[in-house]
Amino acid sequence: MTSEELFKNLIAHAKEYGFIFPSSEIYDGLGAVYDYGQMGVELKNNIKNYWWNAMVRLHDNIVGIDSAIFMHPRIWEASGHVGAFNDPLIDNRDSKKRYRADVLLEEHIAKIEDKITKEVEKGRKKFGEAFDEAQFRATNPNVLRNAAKAAEIQAKMNAALNANDLDALKQLILDCEIACPVSGSRNWTDVRQFNLMFSTQLGSVSDEAGVIYLRPETAQGIFVNFLNVQKTGRMKIPFGIAQIGKAFRNEIVARQFIFRMREFEQMEMQFFVRPGEEIKWYEYWKNERLRWHQSLGLGNEKYRFHNHEKLAHYANAAADIEFNFPFGFKELEGIHSRTDFDLGRHQEFSGRKQQYFDPETNESYVPYVIETSIGLDRTFLAVLSAAYCEEQLGNGEERVVLRIPPVLAPVKLAVLPLVKKDGLPEKAQEILQTLRLDFNCRYDEKDSIGKRYRRQDAIGTPFCITIDHQTLEDDQVTVRYRDTMQQDRLSVAGLRALIDGQVNLRKWLPAAGNSSRQ
Ligand code: GAP
Repeated sequence: MTSEELFKNLIAHAKEYGFIFPSSEIYDGLGAVYDYGQMGVELKNNIKNYWWNAMVRLHDNIVGIDSAIFMHPRIWEASGHVGAFNDPLIDNRDSKKRYRADVLLEEHIAKIEDKITKEVEKGRKKFGEAFDEAQFRATNPNVLRNAAKAAEIQAKMNAALNANDLDALKQLILDCEIACPVSGSRNWTDVRQFNLMFSTQLGSVSDEAGVIYLRPETAQGIFVNFLNVQKTGRMKIPFGIAQIGKAFRNEIVARQFIFRMREFEQMEMQFFVRPGEEIKWYEYWKNERLRWHQSLGLGNEKYRFHNHEKLAHYANAAADIEFNFPFGFKELEGIHSRTDFDLGRHQEFSGRKQQYFDPETNESYVPYVIETSIGLDRTFLAVLSAAYCEEQLGNGEERVVLRIPPVLAPVKLAVLPLVKKDGLPEKAQEILQTLRLDFNCRYDEKDSIGKRYRRQDAIGTPFCITIDHQTLEDDQVTVRYRDTMQQDRLSVAGLRALIDGQVNLRKWLPAAGNSSRQ
């Protein structure tokens, strides 16, 4: 099965089992907007909890806030979003479809890179064991020609984007002979900038002055509360402020399920440091965040850093943590050294000092900031895609199992009476009552035990507890493990400790956090 087919199956599975529904489905949906169902909301809450605990609880110099989505419109002028939070757009006059000019070019480059990959595979087949890929790539004329072509287009595109030269961007599309995937024509409009912020009106004022924006990132809510938190929390630099919340972007190219949405959630942390110490902290947070991802056990090889060579004007270092999604390595989290840009700009635009008096150096300064910014929905997709598994069993049957890390699993255990009579449901309910305040449990008495196991596998429940006639005599149950499908006989009294040992944060997050003091 191709990874594309597997991804389609995963999307269907996410809907069938109540993880993710297309928004407004009975009205044919709303582009790039999704709803989280009964299982999805549990998984999402568990991811939030995992991040919040790692960032806030385990670092005694990081606190959290929850700022409003609506903010004063001047904030978005100060942050640069009104002027520069744009995507370059181009329309095809025949299909009336709208595209991001840079994405059209990137897809064109990807096609050239595909040709290189195919050429390499041909070489591998031809030369068999003696095949030396590095040498082949360095000498094969077709590979060299295509690699040079891809590099040239990439360089021209970067130059046009950096110079904000929209004519050059259009010319490049024409030179590459890129056609609209829908109409097949090259009848393109000019490229123009499109601001990604959604705007609306505040109160009854319907002129320009009443325009406010749905925040495109949660970070600015942290910056404008920097002094509130610092003073009321008596925080000393270095310290961080964390926030989880919705962000909105009018994405033109909204594809790949919940990877790129118009309404999504971010988990962001701004870490305020002394000027001159930012690169040390930037490196610290790069490592710390990678460690957090790896702690989930989805496979260390699924993550990689992408260090930015081209930096935004406010950053002096930046990297993405990329995850190997079913459609390839893509950005999951950004770590940015944002200098004093944001606080400096808010100081300038608000006319209020955004300075910190450092008792150790007896100086006042605008702190520098390291930002860690991770998409909640993208983390959800990373977990789901790494967990989704279509498995052939020894007996010829097939099962779909979500191998979600137990700490994040929506349901931790299912309590299943073997039959619906003889006092087994009552005993099962009794056990359920003793565990439901500690763990999210499900009770299921319908269908055969095999079918019930499959249902739990499909939502990623790590433990199934089966109550049978013997249980009534010896107070022992069968515990069935999701991943191995092995079964153990265990006393009811031992259940809490067994499950807790697998799902508790203690097992997953490093016990001693608080290393962000250095
Ligand atoms: N405050 C910095 C900031 O917002 P960003 O790289 O634009 O930086 C941070 O976004 C993270 O938010 C990304 O790494 C990604 O995980 C998530 N994200 C951004 N746009 C998204 C979208 N349209 N849909 C889902 N997640 C998105």
